[in-house]
Amino acid sequence: MKKLLAILSVVLFANQASADQLKFEIGDIFSCVTAGNGEKEDHPLGKGSLCCSISSIIFEKLSKELIPTHYINMVGANKMICKTVSIVPLEVICRNRAAGSIVRETTLVEGAPLPQPIVEFFLKDDSKHDPLLTPDRVRLMGYNPDPFVEMTLRINDYLRQMFYILGIDLVDFKVEYGYDAHGDLYLADEISPDSMRLWKIGSDERFDKDLFRNDEGDIVPAYREILDRLQPLAIQ
Ligand code: CDP
Repeated sequence: MKKLLAILSVVLFANQASADQLKFEIGDIFSCVTAGNGEKEDHPLGKGSLCCSISSIIFEKLSKELIPTHYINMVGANKMICKTVSIVPLEVICRNRAAGSIVRETTLVEGAPLPQPIVEFFLKDDSKHDPLLTPDRVRLMGYNPDPFVEMTLRINDYLRQMFYILGIDLVDFKVEYGYDAHGDLYLADEISPDSMRLWKIGSDERFDKDLFRNDEGDIVPAYREILDRLQPLAIQ
């Protein structure tokens, strides 16, 4: 088995399942949670399979909304088969409220609603500390930012409404994209509480990786709560 990608939240292992499919394993043994560019790390048991199940439900819902995703199916508790894509070295972040880096780097206060959702680009390179990019820099890197913005806003529209119905405020999230051999764009990587901020509506409760980042609680029960809320949607 080949270690394919080490991303902030999970370690993904990939086997070639067929010519254009990869089998990803979000393994519990390997499913570490990290923060502060890898300075803080833990290996909570059960997180890998929770993130895999949550990602799988979200990918399936987005596919029904005609968003092209690399997800094909789940095979076991913590493995998914995905289409092979070439990952674009951009972290694409969508925000509905101010939290995290936008609070640290601007005058906005935590929780402030944004007049409209915004999409931002960060370089996907831990060794350079994932800096914020301008659209011009994205273009100079050889990528047209417009399709990423358009698809990310469509994803936000759907997910924000879906989480609202579940009593959760989708504050922000990160997505990654990839191109297949024909040059078609796909949503890739994972979408889980490791890569989103999920706040309970009408309360201070959080269900995302900030619990770990800020030493505010155990992420496993929080992620399980998200999976429990999502599960009834999975059969619709
Ligand atoms: O999370 P942090 O405060 O460092 O950065 P951010 O720019 O506020 O992150 C916005 C959203 O993207 C949050 O939901 C993060 O969890 C997510 N993110 C991620 O999944 N991976 C990264 N490398 C950076 C952010």
